[in-house]
Amino acid sequence: MSVIDSKKQDGEKLAAALEAVKFVKNNDVVGLGTGSTATFAIKELAKRIGEGLKITAVASSKATEDLAVSLGIPMLDMGKLSSVDISIDGADEFTTSLNLIKGGGGALFREKIMASLSKKSIIITDASKKVDFLGAFKVPVEIVPLALQYVLDQVNLLNGKGVLREKDHKIFITDNGNYIVDVDFGLIAEPEKLAEALNQIDGLLAHGIFVGLASKIIMSSGGEIVVFDKAR
Ligand code: 5RP
Repeated sequence: MSVIDSKKQDGEKLAAALEAVKFVKNNDVVGLGTGSTATFAIKELAKRIGEGLKITAVASSKATEDLAVSLGIPMLDMGKLSSVDISIDGADEFTTSLNLIKGGGGALFREKIMASLSKKSIIITDASKKVDFLGAFKVPVEIVPLALQYVLDQVNLLNGKGVLREKDHKIFITDNGNYIVDVDFGLIAEPEKLAEALNQIDGLLAHGIFVGLASKIIMSSGGEIVVFDKAR
């Protein structure tokens, strides 16, 4: 991507983030997502706190927790909460039926718990993430290490080809001490069915297919904000 394209994409990410932050109200418990798009929202929330907004927050990753703490956002332990008022997170792919692939940053397990706890789960994206069918982005799955080969074999039975994720020539380890395998299922015609099948595999802690978890997607595209809402 050229420098100009990357600046344009950052502008879109920022615009979507600013739009999402408008939904945050005083006294909300806010779920903070992970990744470059969510970071724009986290920085904006910190700015609003400086201007008097009163919120507490939970983080979907260690990196986000560190960023939020460094910006002075008051944090809570997600493990002690039964609900989160609103969460703002990014995605790697989405369809207009509000199905997502997440986990490009490896935070999918905590992101999924956060989305599940959230009364309102807002996804913010630039236009590059919108697809007709999920699956060009490989589906990240988080695997407990001792179940690695078992899960790879099970995923293979579902016609998925998994590759163990590495970073800097070392196995990528999640915040939860597990592995990520990125699985190529080809284009996914029925994400609900695949999500359900993956849910049945022991040792697979979480997968990056998010079905029915997003309440709203805010996409910024060429200076316009486009909103996709959950069907009622
Ligand atoms: C991290 C995620 C991110 O939300 C996703 O990867 C999008 O990241 P970015 O906003 O940097 O494109 O799921 O696990």
